[in-house]
Amino acid sequence: MASGHVHSRLPTKRPTRARGPGADATAFTPIVGRDGELGLLREQLADPSVRLLTMTGPAGVGKTRLALALAEDLHGPYERLDLAGHDRAGTVLDALAAAAVPGRLVIVDQGEHFTEALAAGLPRLLADRPETRVLLVSREPLHLYGERVLRVPPLARVASLELFRQRAVAVRPDFSLNGGVRAEAARLCELLDDLPLAIEFAAARLKLFRPAELLDRLRDGQDVLYGGPTLSHHASMRAAIGWSHDRLTGPEQAAISALALRDGVFSPADDPELAPEIIETLVDKNLLVPMPSVDGEPRFRMLNVVRAFTRALDAPPVTPSRPRPPAPSLTPREQEVAMLVAQGLTNRQIAGRLGIAEWTAVNHVRNVMRKLNCTSRVNVASWVLRDGAVAAAD
Ligand SMILES: Nc1ncnc2c1ncn2[C@@H]1O[C@H](COP(=O)(O)OP(=O)(O)O)[C@@H](O)[C@H]1O
Ligand SMILES: [Mg+2]
Repeated sequence: MASGHVHSRLPTKRPTRARGPGADATAFTPIVGRDGELGLLREQLADPSVRLLTMTGPAGVGKTRLALALAEDLHGPYERLDLAGHDRAGTVLDALAAAAVPGRLVIVDQGEHFTEALAAGLPRLLADRPETRVLLVSREPLHLYGERVLRVPPLARVASLELFRQRAVAVRPDFSLNGGVRAEAARLCELLDDLPLAIEFAAARLKLFRPAELLDRLRDGQDVLYGGPTLSHHASMRAAIGWSHDRLTGPEQAAISALALRDGVFSPADDPELAPEIIETLVDKNLLVPMPSVDGEPRFRMLNVVRAFTRALDAPPVTPSRPRPPAPSLTPREQEVAMLVAQGLTNRQIAGRLGIAEWTAVNHVRNVMRKLNCTSRVNVASWVLRDGAVAAAD
């Protein structure tokens, strides 16, 4: 590391991810791919008139990782502020002011939690401190005048495969992409939208399954990616998508439900019934990702993870073959457990939250799934959203 390199990789407030892949892994695993994005970011920062550069992209696409790689690359001092450790808008602006040391790049991570506070406070801060530059990492841009926005796309397929290989070797030292495994891994990466976080979750599952089995389970829509003992500290993709989905307006949710019913790429021009401003919002919030245009025609696609989440949310919560048991069959404790499952918590996290043993939580979750006739945790989430609130209100 260059001398005089001041940084605060440790979150300034309380740590948000103590263990598991993520920020910690950054310290000792190499960055895979991203040469193009790093080049673009460097180019933007070489322009002194750029004071606020925002990197946006879906959860798990690798924004934080890329921001840290860029910061290392610049060989200059930087400050890092992780907003996930804050719970009030007021403290965010104070922390930002404290981090804005002249001449130092300030990386503000997880900005999506405080878009309004940042949009209100940043212009003032940047005006008052002409030597401060901010690299904002967020699932959505602020739409400020002068803000440069760089959309972080999913990994290129070769990079996805290499990331999968590296993480697979970590849990199975004999793993290699030889023979048919390469094609299976490539298909997995495709189903996982080439999102690094999803790829890491999947590779961790190679402890239990062969790639072909993992692929089958994923095709069946099974919940192979979420939770698990080694990943219990990592916010799940589903929780992140649920968070974005919750913040959409009714018409936006309706549009995403309609789009989730079909596969593949679409052009807004083909869909006169979808309001352009709604599509714009969905792209803005990275629930739809732009695709290379054909003949200048803008095209978008919905990430598979978003589609699966939306379909599960909209699907009837039980299989039609068996009648749904009445909601009151859940004990109050099981209702509580179902709520926590719906929030994306793992068994271990549920145990921690309720102050019970992990095996007790496992039993509760199993009972909840049996009683609700659910085959996955996503089904439980969909039950909670549709019927759980009603049951609780009764
Ligand atoms: N280019 C990359 N090379 C290696 N690991 C990556 C890369 N991009 C992301 N990861 C890993 O994938 C996970 C998700 O990335 P992260 O940067 O946290 O996503 P985001 O900030 O967009 O939610 C992290 O564990 C991260 O270390
Ligand atoms: Mg991040």
